[in-house]
Amino acid sequence: MNRSIPRLFTPLSIRGVTARNRTMLAPMNQHRAVDGMADDRLLVHLGKFALGGFGIVTTEATAVERDGRIAYGDLGIWSDDHIPGLKRVTAFLRDAGAVSAIQLNHSGRKGSSQRPWQGFGPLNERNAAAGELAWPLVSPTAEPLGEGHVVPCALDTAGICSIVASFANAAARADAAGFDIVEIHGGHGYLIASFLSPTVNTRDDAYGGDLAGRMRFALGVAAAVRARWPAHKPLFFRISSVDGHPQGWTIDDSIVFAKALKETGVDLVDCSSGGLRQSTALENAQRLPGYQVPYAAAIRREADIATGAVGLILKPHQAEDILAQGHADLIILGRQALYDPYWPLHAAQALGIDPEFETWDESAGWWLARRRKGLEAIGLDGTGEEI
Ligand SMILES: Cc1cc2nc3c(=O)[nH]c(=O)nc-3n(C[C@H](O)[C@H](O)[C@H](O)COP(=O)(O)O)c2cc1C
Repeated sequence: MNRSIPRLFTPLSIRGVTARNRTMLAPMNQHRAVDGMADDRLLVHLGKFALGGFGIVTTEATAVERDGRIAYGDLGIWSDDHIPGLKRVTAFLRDAGAVSAIQLNHSGRKGSSQRPWQGFGPLNERNAAAGELAWPLVSPTAEPLGEGHVVPCALDTAGICSIVASFANAAARADAAGFDIVEIHGGHGYLIASFLSPTVNTRDDAYGGDLAGRMRFALGVAAAVRARWPAHKPLFFRISSVDGHPQGWTIDDSIVFAKALKETGVDLVDCSSGGLRQSTALENAQRLPGYQVPYAAAIRREADIATGAVGLILKPHQAEDILAQGHADLIILGRQALYDPYWPLHAAQALGIDPEFETWDESAGWWLARRRKGLEAIGLDGTGEEI
């Protein structure tokens, strides 16, 4: 490899864990699991991103309780029975050189939903006829997500404490399954985010009201997870940096919150936005490449905590610029990774740092390096493009 390594390809070390580079696969629901179980399909799905060179490979939102699933098919970690399947996945990811992460989630009032490709709406009679019945939901208040959605039960203090315990138990299982990183899902309108946002959380008890009250549940989850998650393993926290509503959660709230998360032992804030209702990104905003990067930059600068940038990061040079300008510590790729699971290996070629294909598994890299010499003799580079 060339001596001047782009920041994208420098290792990222947090606590006792080091990722080989600064690319992370975004958490992305597959909704393909049966009873939350990790199966061969998940192993192959996540495995291909490890083989593709990602530094960190993250599971989809993984339910800490059965009723905390978003849709039937969500991956789960609500029982010890989930551990062996997940352990197979983490062993493979490690063997392929990647660090493994699991995103822990409770869906709150956004549960009991159809899969995206079924319409993203509430489970209806057609779904019930196919055996997928709606289930009871919980939320800060009894206000449903929208028309046709299950009316949630407003959590009382005992219910809140029980869900905090479910997150902590899930973290202990994640450790037993061999994960290196836990990411708590505090964004996109799921249970934690709905406690944070004043547009959903209209409670007047200790878990509502002012910012400190609305943060109480989220910080309680972070503290409980940190207590059960080994001290040498990093803890990430995904937030909706703004919720996209004029009277909603703001970037200033996120900065206050990020400082509190840091004190609680969170190591990195994954800076998403929006999703209070159906969409997973800021409502009503035009989405240009890197549209959420300013949030990662502001939180990194103002709260002095490591951040991950996510959202329409497409090109290697774009990713490198984000890191080089100090806007974030980690590049998180969602749909671009679906499009190209080998994005990091291809990025190393695009940034010109891997002429000998040394970032590839040697069973492929050896051949590609040899091929490059032949291609160069006919005026093409190692990827087949004209020189
Ligand atoms: C298929 C799909 C599933 C997703 N599932 C999750 C999820 O489980 N948890 C989460 O926090 N975000 C989820 N997201 C949001 C992504 O993690 C990411 O923040 C978003 O897609 C923006 O990044 P991108 O432009 O690189 O795709 C999902 C996105 C997609 C496309």
